[in-house]
Amino acid sequence: MSHASGPAIEGLLPGSFTHAASGVSYRIFERDGKAWLSYRRDDSNRQLQGEQELSWFIGSGKRGRTYLFSREGYWFESPVNWYTKKQVWDMNPKSMDAKELPMTLPVDSTCLHCHASGAQPSLPGARNHFANDPFQHGGVGCESCHGDTTAHVDSHGTAPVVNPGKLTPSRRDSVCLQCHLEGQVAVDEPGRSLQMFRPGDELGEDVRFFANANAAGANSRATSQWEALLRSACKRKSGDALTCTSCHDPHGSPRPEERVAYYRAKCVACHSDAAFVARHHPEQQDCTACHMARVSTSDVAHEQVTDHRIPRHPNAPDVTFATAEAERLALIGGGKASDRDLGLAYAQLALRGDAAAAQQAILLLDTAAGHGNSQRDAELHTQLGLLYQEGHDNKAAQREYEDALAADPASSIAAGNLAILEATEHNLPRALQLWRRVQQEDPAQLAAGFNLAIGECMAGNRDAAMEALQRLLLFSPDEAKARQFFEQLSENTQACSASRH
Ligand code: HEC
Ligand code: HEC
Ligand code: HEC
Ligand code: HEC
Ligand code: HEC
Ligand code: HEC
Repeated sequence: MSHASGPAIEGLLPGSFTHAASGVSYRIFERDGKAWLSYRRDDSNRQLQGEQELSWFIGSGKRGRTYLFSREGYWFESPVNWYTKKQVWDMNPKSMDAKELPMTLPVDSTCLHCHASGAQPSLPGARNHFANDPFQHGGVGCESCHGDTTAHVDSHGTAPVVNPGKLTPSRRDSVCLQCHLEGQVAVDEPGRSLQMFRPGDELGEDVRFFANANAAGANSRATSQWEALLRSACKRKSGDALTCTSCHDPHGSPRPEERVAYYRAKCVACHSDAAFVARHHPEQQDCTACHMARVSTSDVAHEQVTDHRIPRHPNAPDVTFATAEAERLALIGGGKASDRDLGLAYAQLALRGDAAAAQQAILLLDTAAGHGNSQRDAELHTQLGLLYQEGHDNKAAQREYEDALAADPASSIAAGNLAILEATEHNLPRALQLWRRVQQEDPAQLAAGFNLAIGECMAGNRDAAMEALQRLLLFSPDEAKARQFFEQLSENTQACSASRH
C-alpha cells in the first residue's frame, strides 16, 4: 500500500497512441527529469496541439495508473491511463468515448485520502482546488491507520498512537473501510466528509454507504471486499471476531511462495477441526483456490478480484437478503438511515437516470428539509433543487438553490443552475454575477463558462464574453463550441451588440 501513489516520473514508461473517437494523438515522454503528456490532432478544421506536465501518479501499477496534473492550482486526472495487464497507454476509463480532448476531470480530495498521506482539504468553491500540492507524500503511510504519529515521535514514544487492534470492532473495521469501501452510493454526513476521518473515528459519522439490499444476479455482484464478506457464512456466523486483519497483515502481503500456507493458516485458525482439515481435499493445499476464487481479468480499479463471499462452491450465486420494505437501497451493514441520507442516496441514483429513484428522493428530502437543522445543509438543498429542475418545477428549484447558497455561498453547482433559471426569467445581471463566480472558482464547470460567454454577449459585453471563452479554453482547449464562438467573436467586432435586445 506504500506504493499507492508517487511522482509521475517514477517508473514512467514512454508511449504513444491515437484515440479513434476524438482523433487525438497522445505521447507520454520524459523531458528534463519530468513526465510530460503531449496531444495533437492534424485536422485542418479541428487543429489541436499542446502539452502538459504530469505531476503525480495514483495506483500501485498492479492494475493500472492514473496520472494527475495541475493548472492554476486546480488538479485534474490526465486523459490517459497506464494499463498494466495489456501493457499499454490508453484513455482514462471515464473518457473512452470522448469526442474532444478531456482535460477537466477534477481530482477530488477523497481520491487523495485513499491513495496518499497527509491529503490537504480543498479550498472552498471547487473540490479540486488546492493551496499547495494536494498531498504531503505519496503512498499510504503509518498515519493513515495509526493517526498522527508526529506527537508520538516527538515525545520519544510516550504519546499514544492509535492501535487499531485495540479499538471497538466498528472503529477497528473503520480503519480499513475508510479506503476499502465505496458502496453503490456514498453520502457525506452534514458538514463532514471522508477527508475528515481519522483512525479511531467511527466511519459512519463521516460517510454512510448504501447498496441495493436485494442484490441478486450477476450485474449486482458486491464490488467491495467488505460488502462481499458481509454475505459470507464465515462473517455471518463469527460476527465481530472476523475482520480484514483476520486474514491480512496490514504491514505487508505474503510473498508469492508463502501465499498458500499463509492463507490456509488463517482459515484453519477458525476451521480448526483437525480431522476435517486432514480429510478435506488433501490434494489441494490452497483453500482459496476453491472458496475464494479470483476473477481472471479485471482492469477495474475499484472492484474485488478475489471472491470475498467465501462461498461453498466457486462462483456461487449471491445470497439475497429480502427486506420487508419496498426500499431498494439500504445501509451496508444494516441499521436505519435518516430521511436525509436515504434521500441523498436516491438522488444520486436519480442523477444516473433512474426515474423512480427521483420520486423517492424528493419525498424523503422534502421531509428532511422540514427539520430545523436542515438550514445549513447545502448538499440537501442543492440535490432537491436538481430534482425539481429535472421535473420542470423551476420555482421550487430556484428556492432550493437559494437555500443552498445561503448555507454555503461557495456551492458552485447550486450557483450555476440558479443562474440558468435566473436567465430564463430575464434576470441577466444576477445570472451573470453567479456564472462569473462559478467560472472563477470552479473552472471545470464548463457549461457555466459557456453560458457566461453567451450571457455576456447578450448583455453587449464582447470583451467579457471573449475573456470567458479564453478561460474556458485554457482549461479545456478542444471544446469545439467554445472555439467556434470565440472565432465568431474575434472576426466580428459587432457580434455582441448585434444580438442585443
Ligand atoms: C489510506 C487508505 C488505505 C487504508 C487505511 C487501508 N488501505 Fe489497503 N490499500 C489501499 C490502496 C490504495 C491499495 C492499493 C494500492 C496498493 O496495492 O499499493 C490497498 C491495497 C490493499 C490490499 C491488497 C494488497 C496486495 O498486495 O494486493 C490489501 C490486502 C489491503 N489493502 C488491506 C488493508 C487492510 C487490512 C487495511 C486495514 C488494516 C487497509 N488495507 C487499510 C489503501 C488503504
Ligand atoms: C474510498 C477510497 C478510494 C477512493 C475515494 C479512490 N480510490 Fe482508487 N483505489 C482504492 C483502493 C483500496 C484500491 C486498491 C484495491 C482495490 O482495487 O480494491 C484502489 C485502486 C486504484 C487504482 C488501481 C491501482 C493498481 O494497483 O493498479 C487506480 C488507478 C485508482 N485506484 C485510482 C483512483 C483515482 C484516480 C481516484 C479518484 C478519482 C480514486 N482511485 C479514488 C481506494 C480508493
Ligand atoms: C493499513 C493500515 C496500517 C498501516 C499503513 C500501518 N499499520 Fe501498524 N498496525 C495496523 C493494525 C490494524 C495493527 C493492529 C494489528 C492487530 O492487533 O491485529 C497495527 C499494529 C502496529 C504495531 C503494534 C502495536 C502494538 O501496540 O501492538 C506497530 C508497532 C505498528 N503497527 C507500527 C506501524 C508503523 C511504524 C507503520 C508505518 C511504517 C504502520 N504501523 C503502518 C495497521 C496499519
Ligand atoms: C473468524 C473465523 C473464520 C475464519 C478466519 C474463516 N472462517 Fe470460514 N466459517 C466460519 C464460520 C463460523 C462458518 C460457519 C460454520 C457453520 O455454519 O457451521 C464458516 C463457514 C465457512 C464455509 C461454508 C460456507 C457456506 O456457505 O456454507 C466455508 C466454505 C468456509 N467457511 C471457508 C473458509 C475459508 C476457505 C477460510 C480462509 C480463507 C475461512 N473460511 C476463514 C469462520 C471462519
Ligand atoms: C477470510 C480471509 C479474508 C478476509 C477476512 C479478508 N480477505 Fe482480502 N483477501 C483474501 C485473500 C485470500 C486474497 C487474495 C490474496 C492473493 O491472491 O494473494 C485477498 C485479497 C484482497 C485484496 C486484493 C484485491 C482482491 O480483491 O483480490 C484486497 C484489497 C483485500 N483482500 C482487502 C480486504 C479487506 C478490506 C478486507 C476486510 C473488509 C478483507 N480483505 C478481508 C482473504 C481475506
Ligand atoms: C479442491 C477444492 C477445495 C479445497 C482446496 C478446499 N475446499 Fe472446502 N469445500 C469444497 C467443496 C466443493 C465443499 C462443499 C462440499 C459439499 O457441499 O458437500 C467444501 C466445503 C467446505 C466447508 C463446509 C463444510 C461443511 O461441512 O459444511 C468448509 C468449512 C470448508 N470447505 C473449508 C475449507 C478450508 C478451510 C479449506 C483449506 C484448508 C478448504 N475448504 C479447501 C472444496 C474445497
